[in-house]
Amino acid sequence: MSDSDLDPADAELYSIGEIVLRRPVGDTETSRANRGWWDANADEYQADHGEYLGDARFLWSPEGVYEDEAHLLGDVRGRHVLEVGCGAAQCSRWLAKQGAHVAGFDLSMRQLEHAHRIDEDLGNAPLPLVQADALAMPFADEAFDVACSAFGAVPFVADSAAVMREVARVLKPGGRWVFAVPHPFRWCLPDDPGQGGLVVRDSYFDRQPYVEQDESGVATYVEHHRTLGDRVRELVAAGLVLLDLVEPEYPETLGDRWGGGWSALRGKLVPGTAIFVTQKPGR
Ligand SMILES: C[S@@+](CC[C@H](N)C(=O)[O-])C[C@H]1O[C@@H](n2cnc3c(N)ncnc32)[C@H](O)[C@@H]1O
Repeated sequence: MSDSDLDPADAELYSIGEIVLRRPVGDTETSRANRGWWDANADEYQADHGEYLGDARFLWSPEGVYEDEAHLLGDVRGRHVLEVGCGAAQCSRWLAKQGAHVAGFDLSMRQLEHAHRIDEDLGNAPLPLVQADALAMPFADEAFDVACSAFGAVPFVADSAAVMREVARVLKPGGRWVFAVPHPFRWCLPDDPGQGGLVVRDSYFDRQPYVEQDESGVATYVEHHRTLGDRVRELVAAGLVLLDLVEPEYPETLGDRWGGGWSALRGKLVPGTAIFVTQKPGR
């Protein structure tokens, strides 16, 4: 959910010292860049979006899809639930309130510090959260009944197929994995809430990630793109079954509250979010 404004032909000057382009980036460079970016930008992200996210609400997407109405995870009471790329753990806090046994992890220590700050402010016991990369989850096989991610790690790794395999490993047979990502169609359009954001500028089929890099060519932020078909193939290869693909519509009343390319104008025409509802087959 960056303020990306892509130019496929040329790298462009984004802000002082930052270049935006599309180029191949592997796992290590991606994780290093995104850990640094989220650590450096967590304060601003929480200041900008914390109120809309809510301290203890489960918001799936900027379109205002909340788990208490969408019920994509099924009944979570008494279930062991893992949040992947939990950020300040707003979703985990809601899950704990519903009686779930929650664990969460995030690549960014600063995001996790915001989670602890919110727990302290609310007078809650700290949630069990750990700093980790989604490519190597520090959890035992078949430890969880449910795994979830609202725009967490999945778009921020080079090898999202490996994340699908990791989730399949830590889920119990019959367990559910639900994750929200930017809808692949978003990658065709500039992040402009107005008319400029309605013009297809990039190929849907270009899998090169969106990269911000410094003047020495070191990536400082990377977001990876997959087509819908890519995502389905990665799920199937991990042994997961796709139950539903939710493409939320944008309520006109939301206006342009999230920022970037999320607007009522564009939301009326094209989807912004894809939520994959999947399951590991039972024994
Ligand atoms: C857009 S936030 C989503 C979190 C929360 N649901 C929210 O809406 O604020 C993306 C989160 O993914 C985390 N992240 C990025 N790459 C990751 C990785 N490889 N492993 C774990 N978390 C990662 C970031 O640090 C960030 O906290």
